[in-house]
Amino acid sequence: METSVEAKDLTIYYGKQVALRDITFQLGLSETLLLLGPNGAGKTTLLRTIAGFHTDYRGELRVLGKRPEEARDLVSYVPQSHSLNEKVPLTALDVVAMGAMYRRGLVHRIVPPEIKERALKMLRFVGLDGIADKLFRNLSGGQKQRVLLARALISDPKLLLLDEPLSALDPSARAEVTSVLGKIKEKRKIAMIITTHDVNPLLEIGDKVMLINKRMITFGRPDEALRDEIIKSVYGPMARAIKVEDRLYCITGDFHIHRWGREVR
Ligand SMILES: Nc1ncnc2c1ncn2[C@@H]1O[C@H](COP(=O)(O)OP(=O)(O)OP(=O)(O)O)[C@@H](O)[C@H]1O
Ligand SMILES: [Mg+2]
Repeated sequence: METSVEAKDLTIYYGKQVALRDITFQLGLSETLLLLGPNGAGKTTLLRTIAGFHTDYRGELRVLGKRPEEARDLVSYVPQSHSLNEKVPLTALDVVAMGAMYRRGLVHRIVPPEIKERALKMLRFVGLDGIADKLFRNLSGGQKQRVLLARALISDPKLLLLDEPLSALDPSARAEVTSVLGKIKEKRKIAMIITTHDVNPLLEIGDKVMLINKRMITFGRPDEALRDEIIKSVYGPMARAIKVEDRLYCITGDFHIHRWGREVR
């Protein structure tokens, strides 16, 4: 199989400390991987290593057939929290255009017309035409996240790495962003790795699921990987995987356990 990412016996370090060990998996060219694990499990570390930003590892890691550092132009990475300085009055369009200008070494504030055109197209793709001239800092959480997705897509990546794209969003914003992720999968047919605390909203678009906690616990199709005993081994005895009308749900965090408790009472 042609792969977007291939890892074999990958162990990632911070100096002498092992952050993540025994990672072995293959992801296809248009597959979506949901990366799960509790706080400190190593999700961001794995994503940054695949992105080519963290190079302290042993074992094999290939990204689109290359070493991660050599594949950077083919990969877009959206970090856990964006590092845009919101004091600078950037418009939504400026932010999306940045995704194309950095790659070309352009650091100008003036967006060339050809890039502006593409940035507008990307904004349309994420359902945000009409807000191109609004200031990024004034947008809602869901709109900001969609602008960041547009910025990640403008360079036409073959692999998209998204670190917690749904965290800190309210339920309706989550639904907006989830539907854009579904659209990316359907229309762009690129590979995606998405880390998340709550897998449930994303299960529909996940071809594969990996559960990690300082090491790889499981990797496979959601129905294979999210088995009750595996979930419990990572998240504790209260956690569970349940099926309701053929749909799989994974109950792990405190919020869900609390809700579960109330529902039972
Ligand atoms: N720059 C660093 N130097 C040393 N250790 C680090 C560094 N960054 C992260 N770590 C450690 O590596 C481990 C994994 O951290 P990582 O941020 O990858 O976890 P995570 O699964 O993304 O957590 P979260 O769900 O909180 O985002 C943690 O023990 C963390 O303290
Ligand atoms: Mg993280």
